[in-house]
Amino acid sequence: MAGPLGKDLLGLAPLSADQLRLLLDTAVPFREISERTIKKVPTLRGATIVNLFFEASTRTRISFEFAEKRLSADTVNVAVAGSSVSKGETLVDTARNLEAMKIDMVVIRHSASGAARFLAERIESNVINAGDGTNEHPTQGLLDILTLRDRFGDLAGRRVCIVGDVLHSRVARSNIWGLTKLGADVAVCGPRSLLPNAIEQMGVTVFNRIEDAIEWADALNILRLQLERMQAGYIPSLREYNRVFGVTSARLEKASRDLLILHPGPMNRGVEIDSDVADGPHSVILDQVTNGVAVRMAVLYLLAGGKPELAEAAKKGNA
Ligand code: CP
Repeated sequence: MAGPLGKDLLGLAPLSADQLRLLLDTAVPFREISERTIKKVPTLRGATIVNLFFEASTRTRISFEFAEKRLSADTVNVAVAGSSVSKGETLVDTARNLEAMKIDMVVIRHSASGAARFLAERIESNVINAGDGTNEHPTQGLLDILTLRDRFGDLAGRRVCIVGDVLHSRVARSNIWGLTKLGADVAVCGPRSLLPNAIEQMGVTVFNRIEDAIEWADALNILRLQLERMQAGYIPSLREYNRVFGVTSARLEKASRDLLILHPGPMNRGVEIDSDVADGPHSVILDQVTNGVAVRMAVLYLLAGGKPELAEAAKKGNA
């Protein structure tokens, strides 16, 4: 099956601004379905979707599952621990065996950058990247951008700063690709050891001081320190990181305007973000989670060949 996005969703880098807008616009009508008593429409009835998670996940796995179920698809969750991957079976063999059972789509999270593309080139089912190594996490990027668009409207000229461990962050890369295509001004801020070399070539401004980033930005998207991906001493200590780069209410209060606060989760409270900021009046962190379900419904719908103009009808259960 192929729709207006092509066969797969592997990242935001390959998408045009029009395709990004289509995804965001399609997510909006789907949001209302999750507000209903009976949160279900028959749009993907008969489709079978496998969620293949080789890495831990709370938000992404559960919200894909909600999205699939709310569109009436049949879903199967495969966790590495209980599968034959733990006996040495390859990724492609696993997927081909699943395809032999006549599936339509695979949602994959994997620790290797490029794993989603590798799979997409070898199987006929639609492949959706739910996060591959440090490469991309396109549905997280989309839900972050939708949350920003809900607050700001047009993103052209809006200033978004991504703060923290950009080096290990697939979320940062998807945000940078998506936001710059939609005309936002994007910056990154963090210790130089946690910023990729030549990050400026992605069209972003670099701030070395969190105070400067806060003064510049309309919104901060604050990243988790991915300690599990750090093989060397990138920062002296978590306490030191919080002291120099932590987003605290004391720092935000000094800014000349209120900043929107985003975090893709999971959060390390007291490290990259303090609790009073995470739970404060300018935080849209839980709105991001809510938008995640609608964005993933839109992705599934469009990849399954859904027509953008039929999203309203799909919401009513007529498409
Ligand atoms: N934001 C995100 O990807 O969270 P999970 O790792 O819990 O899916």
